Amino acid sequence: MAEHYFTNNADLKSDTRLIHYNYGDGVIEFTSDLGVFSKDKLDYGSRLLIENYIEHGRSDIDLLDVGCGYGFIGISLAKIKNTNSTMVDVNKRAVHLAKMNIKNNKIENATAFESNIYESVEGLYDVVITNPPIRTGRETVLTFLRDSKKFLKPGGELWFVMRKDQGALTVAKKLEDLYKIEIIDKSKGFFIFKGI
Ligand SMILES: C[S@@+](CC[C@H](N)C(=O)[O-])C[C@H]1O[C@@H](n2cnc3c(N)ncnc32)[C@H](O)[C@@H]1O
Repeated sequence: MAEHYFTNNADLKSDTRLIHYNYGDGVIEFTSDLGVFSKDKLDYGSRLLIENYIEHGRSDIDLLDVGCGYGFIGISLAKIKNTNSTMVDVNKRAVHLAKMNIKNNKIENATAFESNIYESVEGLYDVVITNPPIRTGRETVLTFLRDSKKFLKPGGELWFVMRKDQGALTVAKKLEDLYKIEIIDKSKGFFIFKGI
């Protein structure tokens, strides 16, 4: 059976590689490995999401990165926007890498732990941000997005990226009973949404 990046497989070999994110005058180095999302390069949609967040999003706030992978979004925003980033993923290897990347980049305002979506998440956040795992199916994606509301402070924001051909506009419509949805940007078929 095909292995997906969100499944845990204790027998999976390791073959680490380095990925760099250049921003302004800085660079953040990430260690990636087999069995995690976008293992060889930063995902275009995730880059677009954080570049929009860097430009338009709030600094110095409590942020929850759901489905963090090796930590690209949560760690970059902790470094660049001084967010207090909490990062969760169901993939054990992704969480291990996210923890390693927090440590190697000497980030003090970020933490990562295992959680099946929000199951192990506690507390309230100013922002929930996610590049949701499309391959897990529409229902899981909707849980990622809709249940975010339970973890947001009053006035909190949900930021997410999705491709048009993955049903971005239909999914955004399904959130309209919970959020006032704005399209912040679109590029190469990717939409960046903010829900308030
Ligand atoms: C599209 S990837 C985004 C990864 C990372 N945020 C990035 O931008 O590079 C989605 C992530 O969701 C994780 N994921 C899938 N199902 C999950 C679940 N039930 N609970 C938590 N995370 C899950 C996957 O392991 C994957 O790391």
